[in-house]
Amino acid sequence: MMNIAVFASGNGSNFAAIAAAIKKKKIRAKLALVVCDNPAAYVVKRAQKAGVKVALVKRQDFSSKKDFEEKIIEHLEKNNIRLIVLAGFMRMLGQAILKSYKNRILNIHPALLPSFKGSAGIKDAFDYGVKVTGVTVHFVDALMDNGPVILQAAVSVQENDTLASLEAKIHKVEHRIYPEAINLFAQGKLKVKGRKVEILNP
Ligand code: GRF
Repeated sequence: MMNIAVFASGNGSNFAAIAAAIKKKKIRAKLALVVCDNPAAYVVKRAQKAGVKVALVKRQDFSSKKDFEEKIIEHLEKNNIRLIVLAGFMRMLGQAILKSYKNRILNIHPALLPSFKGSAGIKDAFDYGVKVTGVTVHFVDALMDNGPVILQAAVSVQENDTLASLEAKIHKVEHRIYPEAINLFAQGKLKVKGRKVEILNP
């Protein structure tokens, strides 16, 4: 089974959903590491409770992004990580990690890309007044919220929705489709062809 690492900076509800899916064998992979850049993040507590090793790597402790990423790569190699899963990791990855893990980094974005990129995808869609938004899981490249799309799911915005109720609906869908996408990767069912991702016998 392949070892995966979840990168997170905050709450970690996606981490929890992934850990639960692995426990139920809905993802055939081992959750070998959490990489976190924020010691105060709740995900650290969740990981400790779930018995998952945490590598705390703070950007401030390094004089360059390259050194910061090399330290992370050291942790990844030590733990034989084959797939990086970004789940609320609030930093753009640089060349060091992107090169070492080309087409082996996934991200989840809480909107239907390419709409509403950036760190406030749910609020931006809500404020815009769209009737349909959703969730995107994609491969990561050097640009923000940009790489080839793996899975998307739509969420409709109802008359009585508030930002909070929409957030809750979006997160629920995230916790369903992220494990699904990770399992497709773990089973070798994702083939990247330019911007397109082919799902082999889904
Ligand atoms: C999620 O909404 C995800 O789509 C976005 O960051 C949020 C992370 O939430 N990239 P959590 O830390 O997994 O609860």
